Amino acid sequence: MRRKLAAGNWKMNGTGAALSELEALCKSHPDASVDILICPPATLLSRAADTVRGSAVTIGGQDCHAASAGAHTGDISAEMLLDAGATSVILGHSERRVDHEEHDEDIRAKACAAMDAGLKAIICVGESLEQREAANTLDIIGGQMSGSIPDQATGENLIIAYEPIWAIGTGKVPTLDEIGEVHDFIRARLERRFGEGVGRSVRLVYGGSVKPSNAAEIFAVSNVDGALVGGASLKARDFTGIIQALESV
Ligand code: 13P
Repeated sequence: MRRKLAAGNWKMNGTGAALSELEALCKSHPDASVDILICPPATLLSRAADTVRGSAVTIGGQDCHAASAGAHTGDISAEMLLDAGATSVILGHSERRVDHEEHDEDIRAKACAAMDAGLKAIICVGESLEQREAANTLDIIGGQMSGSIPDQATGENLIIAYEPIWAIGTGKVPTLDEIGEVHDFIRARLERRFGEGVGRSVRLVYGGSVKPSNAAEIFAVSNVDGALVGGASLKARDFTGIIQALESV
């Protein structure tokens, strides 16, 4: 059985004042039947780790460097994330693929570093609107998976987030059939590459305009093991609505 995951990606949002939302989230979930992860900006990681201590909430990073240390101004290594209290790291988010020109091979190297350091790598894949309209979605996802997932992946150290780029922050969501088609495809690809045992144990989460109002129907889709949530993870009340929907699947 795969444990469900509700993950929040705060992106470049939040100063110290935002920790009150995290505190409220922890109070609402002293324990939980699903995993709850918040990925705040790096500047808040240590304070966030202190805030969640003793609750069901864990903390993750939004990116890491492929090297463990060195002359890389402005970057953060996987070891540093772990040291700051992170359990996981988001890698290859489409905003990083675009803003920082990250390619599959960069993401694979970062994922290796994260896994070697003992972090779970949440690798993001997803198609653009043009790619979907040209009926290339599955080819794109398949290519991103082969290029960015390291051979050392297991159900313990890998989570895949399917985030259609056109659904991020837009309020647009694919149909449930479209989500199911991609998640089933990802599962089949994982089983083909890693064997049934590992392939079936990797968690697949959906991301893109998930809200309390649409979470339950998305979580009912086959092979959807949770969500990676942007905007609706910033407020404890909204994110709690999503967590509750996941707990009742
Ligand atoms: P929104 O939930 O704001 O659409 O963002 C999704 C996302 O990019 C999570 O990583």
